[in-house]
Amino acid sequence: MNRLAGKRALITGAASGIGEAAVHRFREEGAQVFAVDRAAGEGVTQIDITAPGAPEEIAAKAKAALGGLDILVNNAGLGTWAKFDDTTDELWDRMFAVNSRAPFQLVRACLPMLKESKAGRIINTGSVMSERTDKGLVAYTASKHAIAGMTRGLALEFGPLGITVNFVMPGAIATGMTRESFEDPKVRAIWEKKSPLRRIAEPIEIAHGMLFLASDDASFITGTGLLIDGGLTLRT
Ligand SMILES: NC(=O)c1ccc[n+]([C@@H]2O[C@H](COP(=O)([O-])OP(=O)(O)OC[C@H]3O[C@@H](n4cnc5c(N)ncnc54)[C@H](O)[C@@H]3O)[C@@H](O)[C@H]2O)c1
Repeated sequence: MNRLAGKRALITGAASGIGEAAVHRFREEGAQVFAVDRAAGEGVTQIDITAPGAPEEIAAKAKAALGGLDILVNNAGLGTWAKFDDTTDELWDRMFAVNSRAPFQLVRACLPMLKESKAGRIINTGSVMSERTDKGLVAYTASKHAIAGMTRGLALEFGPLGITVNFVMPGAIATGMTRESFEDPKVRAIWEKKSPLRRIAEPIEIAHGMLFLASDDASFITGTGLLIDGGLTLRT
C-alpha cells in the first residue's frame, strides 16, 4: 500500500507507544518520516520539544532531512495522575509545556513548510480526556482540552491555506506512560471492562487513525476529533 507515497512527515514522541507505531505505519505507506523524541530510539532525533528554541530547531532539521513537510503529527505527551492537592504549579506548567504549548509552537515553526505543501496536514494527539475527564487528571484533562480547542481554531484559520487540522482521541492503551498502571491486573481489568470491546487498545490502532487523517481519504475532514476508544466513552 502507498497511501502516503511522496509525503514528508514529522512525528514527535516517536521513540515509544503511539508515536513509534505511527512512524512504522507511515513509512510502510511510503512516507519519509522525521522522528523526534526526548528519549533515545532507533532513527529518532533526540530533542526535548519544550527546550528553548526546540520547535524551530526541529523544523529546520526536518527541512534539511526531508526538503519540506506535508504532515505534522504532534504526538509527544506527558500523562501524570495527580489528585488536585498534589497538582503543583510545576506539574501544571510541565503538563501544559509538553501537551499544549510545544504542539502550538511546532505548528508555528512548521507552518511555512506546510503552506508550501500541496495538501498540508496537522494531526494533534488529544485523548478521551479532550472532552471528558476522570479523577486525578485535572492538569492532564485541561492540557488535552486545550488540544481540542487549538485544533478547531487552527482548522478555521488554516482552511484557506489548504491545510487540514484534526486530532485523535485515544482511549486506554498500554504504552510507556500507562504500562506501569496496566501491569496491575485490577487496574487493567477496570479499563478493559469500560470498553464494550472488553480490552485496551494497541498503539498501532491509534496509528491507523492518524494514517487515515494524513491520507487522501481524509481530504475534506478538518477541525475534527477522531475518537479511537473502543466505545469507552459511550456510557453516560
Ligand atoms: N496511553 C494512553 O492510554 C493514551 C490515551 C490517550 C492519549 N494518549 C496520548 O498519546 C500520546 C502518545 O503517548 P503514548 O501513550 O504513546 O505514551 P508514551 O509514553 O509511550 O510515548 C510518549 C512519548 O513522548 C515523548 N515525550 C514526552 N515528553 C517529551 C518532550 N518534552 N520532548 C520530546 N518527547 C517527549 C516520550 O519520551 C515518549 O517517547 C500522548 O500525547 C498521550 O497523551 C495516550
